[in-house]
Amino acid sequence: MSEPMLFRDVVRERHSVRSFLPQPVPEALLRSVLEDAQRSPSNCNTQPWQTHIVSGATRDALSKAILAADDAGQLTPDFSFDTHDFQGIYHDRAKAQGAAYYQAIGVKREAYEQRRDASRRNLEFFGAPHVALLFMPEAGDNVRVAGDIGMYAQTLLLSLTAHGLGGIPQTMLGFYADTIREMLGISPAMKLLFGISLGYPDREHPANQYRIEKAPLEESVIFHQ
Ligand SMILES: Cc1cc2nc3c(=O)[nH]c(=O)nc-3n(C[C@H](O)[C@H](O)[C@H](O)COP(=O)(O)O)c2cc1C
Repeated sequence: MSEPMLFRDVVRERHSVRSFLPQPVPEALLRSVLEDAQRSPSNCNTQPWQTHIVSGATRDALSKAILAADDAGQLTPDFSFDTHDFQGIYHDRAKAQGAAYYQAIGVKREAYEQRRDASRRNLEFFGAPHVALLFMPEAGDNVRVAGDIGMYAQTLLLSLTAHGLGGIPQTMLGFYADTIREMLGISPAMKLLFGISLGYPDREHPANQYRIEKAPLEESVIFHQ
C-alpha cells in the first residue's frame, strides 16, 4: 500500500491526462472513486448527476460510433459551445493551452492533418479503458444544474488522482449526444454536459509531460474588508 497523498499534493498533481494505459481499473477501485464523487455538494441537494460508465466492448463500439458520426458531420450537442465566445484574457488562455498541448506532442500550428488526428484522439477517449458520461436533467436555464455537475466532476477527478489514476473532462464528447444516447439507451430527457475519459495515465507519453500554467491568485480573487 502506498502512502495516502496530502490534499494539496492531490490538487497540484491533478491535470488533464491525454494518454492512458490500456489496463482497466479494477471494479472495486472504480466504485470507490465514484462513491467519493457521490459526496459532492449540489443546489438544494438535488444531486442531479447521472453518470454512465462505459468500458470493454461497449467502450470500443461507442468510440467507433462517435468517430463515424464525426466523419458524417453528425454533431448533436445538447448545449452550445463556441470558442469564439471567449474574449480577452479568456481567449488568450484558451489559445495558450492549445498551443502548449500541440507543442508537447510535437504538432506544428500549420499541420492541419496532424492537428485533426490529435483532436480525434478525444473520440478514442485518449486510449482510456473507461469513459464516464455525465448526463443531467434540464431545469430552468440549466446553469445551476451544470454547476452541480462541475462540482461532481472535480470531486471525481481529484479522487482519481488520489488513487494513482487520472482523467480528462471532455466537452468534445458532448457534441455526439444523440449517438451516445442511442447506443446506451438513454432517455432524450437526459442531457449530456461532458464526458471524462479515465484510467491509468501513460506517464511517459509527451501529452502527459507538460503542465499548463495557472493564473496567479491576484488575477482571480478580489479581497474586500
Ligand atoms: C468542462 C471541461 C471540458 C473540457 N473539454 C476538453 C476537451 O473536450 N478536450 C480536451 O482535450 N480537453 C478538455 N478539457 C481540459 C482543459 O483543456 C484543461 O482542464 C485545461 O487546459 C487546464 O488544464 P489541466 O486540467 O491540466 O489543469 C476540458 C476541461 C473542462 C473543465
